[in-house]
Amino acid sequence: MIGRLNHVAIAVRDLSKAAEVYRTMLGAKVSDAVPQPAHGVTTVFITLPNTKIELLEPLGDGSPIAKFLERNPDGGIHHICYEVEDIRAARDRLKAQGARVLGDGEPKIGAHGKPVLFLHPKDFNGTLVEIEQA
Ligand code: CO
Repeated sequence: MIGRLNHVAIAVRDLSKAAEVYRTMLGAKVSDAVPQPAHGVTTVFITLPNTKIELLEPLGDGSPIAKFLERNPDGGIHHICYEVEDIRAARDRLKAQGARVLGDGEPKIGAHGKPVLFLHPKDFNGTLVEIEQA
């Protein structure tokens, strides 16, 4: 069912510092910072030949990554995102097998302008999983 790895998201405290590591040390193609108020984060997208890395910095009060950064003060991998062809079909299949879909279970438009859902880390080996309709 799952297709390509769309991105790996890394939560960071200092976005410009993190972006600079990718730009300078790793020689990657790094976007400008994009505030995403609807998602409570500011993002930097790093384009690799086979996937993307998303750097996430908290934006505003109650950012969904604030608690994660309290537990992981140096930052860390926050979630991974797999592509699916049909997000509602994927959701129904996952739920039928007992996987927990976060929120109200309805796909939301994610940082890339496509419908996404998040799946409970306890059902996926301790990893928060995002699925995105490709
Ligand atoms: Co994501």
